Amino acid sequence: MEPFTELTALGYIGVRSSRLDEWGDYATRLLGMQAVDQASTIRAFRMDDRKQRLIVQHGPEEGLGFIGWETTSAAALDRLATRLEAHGIAVRRAPRALADERHVKELIQFLDPAGNPLEVFHGAAIADTPFRPSRPISGFRTGPFGMGHAVLNVEDATALLPFYRDVLGFHVSDYGLTPYALYFFHLNGRHHSFAMVGSGKRGVHHFMVEFCQLDDVGQGYDLALLETNRLAYTLGRHTNDHMTSYYTHTPSGFFVETGWGGRTIDPPTWQPHETFDGPSLWGHDRLYMEPEPRAKLQTMRLDAAARGIRAPVVLPDCPWAQTIFASAEKG
Ligand SMILES: [Fe+2]
Repeated sequence: MEPFTELTALGYIGVRSSRLDEWGDYATRLLGMQAVDQASTIRAFRMDDRKQRLIVQHGPEEGLGFIGWETTSAAALDRLATRLEAHGIAVRRAPRALADERHVKELIQFLDPAGNPLEVFHGAAIADTPFRPSRPISGFRTGPFGMGHAVLNVEDATALLPFYRDVLGFHVSDYGLTPYALYFFHLNGRHHSFAMVGSGKRGVHHFMVEFCQLDDVGQGYDLALLETNRLAYTLGRHTNDHMTSYYTHTPSGFFVETGWGGRTIDPPTWQPHETFDGPSLWGHDRLYMEPEPRAKLQTMRLDAAARGIRAPVVLPDCPWAQTIFASAEKG
């Protein structure tokens, strides 16, 4: 069977929170996004030429409002809606007013089998003014790679796999099965636009936004360190997508990962595979975690390091290494 190709990227993320002012400060001063809407019940933020990427709506509970997945056309949206309905998923075609609020041409809304609210849209509106970051960053890596990635906590990741892979059409990048199931999925050249962690919990674990330069990450890290209890994971590098990043606590309790240097994969030739080396090559010490699981992750990192597991050197950026590697290959 040919893989489904309707979904192309993570388009936007919606958060529900009673702490709109805290989110306004966090998303601008720390993340570097641009606030575009200061209405009393909503905050919206830009990351690029789109009118909005992050939307925080007022609500009594903290957590995920919706994840907006992008498709290419009205025809692709209809095809996906039909497939969802054929699998017994109730699909709501959103009214014009909601599409206008999302700044898209058209969208559908539905729940995944665990009850997470999802949307699929096409035709995102482009702003008529240039993006202006709130701190001097080089910019966010979006475009064909989308907004970044979203990661959900779920009670049973394996049970949700058929929905995400076989109905929505997410492509498995890689997965780990111990100590619990963890699946990563791609929709484009970004190693993963979505992941689910079978942690037994529910709701959003984190979302990730990627900067264009490592200095954007480091300068944000310094700002995060100025605050008490803002940092959740120390600076580190992930094993599978090679992202150099740190995680902070959002005002809503989940995390945001801010990173740089994520790998670009070639989806047509990519082969899904199981991974065994733990989540991080170095760093990412989870400051919020209980001592026992935290120490276990540390052991996995030290073991990966001792075995020489590292991301490949990107040769064009590192001429001296190119010389060394070329001579090493000649033997
Ligand atoms: Fe992540």
